[in-house]
Amino acid sequence: MTERSDARAEAAARLRAAGDPTAALDADLLLAHVCGVSKESLYAHLDEPIGDGALRTLRALVERRAAGEPVAYLRGWKEFFGLRVAVDARVLVPRPETEVLVEAALAFLRETGRRLVADVGTGSGAIAVAIAAAAPGARVIATDISPDALEVARANAAAHGVAERVELRCGDLLAPVREEVDVVTANLPYLRPEAVEHLSGDRTPLAFEPRLAVVAGPDGLDVIRRAVAQLPERLAAGGAAYFECDPPQADTVAALLGSTLPATTRVLRDLAGSPRVVEGKRA
Ligand SMILES: C[S@@+](CC[C@H](N)C(=O)[O-])C[C@H]1O[C@@H](n2cnc3c(N)ncnc32)[C@H](O)[C@@H]1O
Repeated sequence: MTERSDARAEAAARLRAAGDPTAALDADLLLAHVCGVSKESLYAHLDEPIGDGALRTLRALVERRAAGEPVAYLRGWKEFFGLRVAVDARVLVPRPETEVLVEAALAFLRETGRRLVADVGTGSGAIAVAIAAAAPGARVIATDISPDALEVARANAAAHGVAERVELRCGDLLAPVREEVDVVTANLPYLRPEAVEHLSGDRTPLAFEPRLAVVAGPDGLDVIRRAVAQLPERLAAGGAAYFECDPPQADTVAALLGSTLPATTRVLRDLAGSPRVVEGKRA
């Protein structure tokens, strides 16, 4: 009979040997996952036995993690804005820095009492669902060019009880949005192809995430540029747009928003202090 503590030590050793910088944590997360318990409960019951089936599953997941696959794909979910968001290889794993964008959009909705939001490139639906869950008066139109991603977003909207206020539309950026909206949120692809070219041996989720979700032309701004160009026709007067970007792009995105709408712009920093989200308030 194998105890959880033995399985834990074995998993951590395997991940450490594979060069996983968060080996111990990842081993705990995967072990808790296969045992069907929280990490806290796992720590309280480490002397319990782990069944043969669970141990086989754990070893298989550990091998995938050793090859670099994100823990979020292995567990099938990622916590975002306090919500458990289902993810798989069809969508980007939501990142903590994107929570800054959600907070800013929610503050704008609260301050202005406006309600209609378009979330462009919704992926797992993380932003759309977080906004709908936190702002019961809001309605969100969420678009993505990937029908596969929209299936994941649909499941997340249903799981969090906001399916009636999150409408999913497949298409290019704001093209499927015919109405004037009060807020546009956009975490679109913004990396240059070189940034993800040689990642397969690295332990970054980017090596496993859909290229369509992360890469956007030679300077990484192709998709954001096209989305900003669509704003004058879709964003209501007095509305606001929020674009996540790579920190070195923030000034360019702010200038683009400022001149295209025109808008008053502000750059918001993520928890690491990097310029990450550009807000543009339309006059
Ligand atoms: C960086 S991911 C972000 C997903 C989600 N917004 C988040 O923050 O986790 C970008 C998403 O934009 C979608 N996308 C890429 N090009 C698009 C386009 N032209 N029109 C609509 N969606 C697009 C991708 O399929 C992907 O789901």
